[in-house]
Amino acid sequence: MKIFVDTAKLNEIKEACSWGIVDGVTTNPSLIKKAVDAEKLQGKNVNMTDYIKEILITVGEGKPVSLEVISLTSKEMIREGMLLYEKFNPVAQNVAIKIPINTSINNSLLGNYEGLKAIKKLSGQGIPINCTLIMTPEQALLAAKAGASYASPFCGRVDDYIRKKLGISFSKGDYFDSELIERIADDNFEEHLEDYFSGEIDAIYQDKRIKEAANLGKDNGIESGVDLVRSIVTIYLNYGIKTEIIAASMRNARQVREIAEAGAHIATIPFAVIEEMIQHPKTREGIERFSADVVPEYRELFKKN
Ligand code: E4P
Repeated sequence: MKIFVDTAKLNEIKEACSWGIVDGVTTNPSLIKKAVDAEKLQGKNVNMTDYIKEILITVGEGKPVSLEVISLTSKEMIREGMLLYEKFNPVAQNVAIKIPINTSINNSLLGNYEGLKAIKKLSGQGIPINCTLIMTPEQALLAAKAGASYASPFCGRVDDYIRKKLGISFSKGDYFDSELIERIADDNFEEHLEDYFSGEIDAIYQDKRIKEAANLGKDNGIESGVDLVRSIVTIYLNYGIKTEIIAASMRNARQVREIAEAGAHIATIPFAVIEEMIQHPKTREGIERFSADVVPEYRELFKKN
């Protein structure tokens, strides 16, 4: 599995690249904002063109850096995507353009197909597209059909959505325990069913509240962000689809392990989660003991002349 770093902060990108583990980088407008805010805090002004060029050079040729468009119509997204690609791809031949699967906002259906139109047009011109904000396997299938080189399912945000529906409080980095969630959802469903126990079977089956209760702990049958990746992997394998899956919105090390087991091609991981992946208390304890056990005879070997 390839590892991308999910950040726009140059210091984080430089550091992770020095570890030899970086196969690419993903950014989005929120990550760019965090990077710019951090620079400002240090009293620095950001020249965005130079800043992005430095990211591209740091990451290097053959390692994709996703840059996202900001408009909501296909016409504007195509213009922005071409602009970003023409301006930045010559720097290190590693730009991918990020296009949302759809751009509907405020309950309007207007943006529903704008993303697909933009993906079709830009990918048709040979521009690698990373289709972002994917929350369902169905969206991932459409993104691939439209020509996206990468599909980015947002695992953490799907977990957030399921937990919120269940009324569970959680912090962003908390592991999503599917088995526990299933038990909570099952108990909740039993309670609903008991209320209707005396009703006709058909009336129970048709009841909207029962249906909602049955889908608690899931999002239209999807059990978690990891399950979302698993489903997309299966669909892409079934049909030999070449689009690569970038498991995004990663929240903790165990989630990275699970999407790797599920067969994601790539994980895009925040810097802090990579830091979590390297640690274990027994590793720390082991190194402390090794250091304490070094005898002078052995230390002598390493003395500089
Ligand atoms: C990366 O491509 C996504 O934009 C990012 O992983 C979103 O992560 P978040 O849900 O933690 O904001």
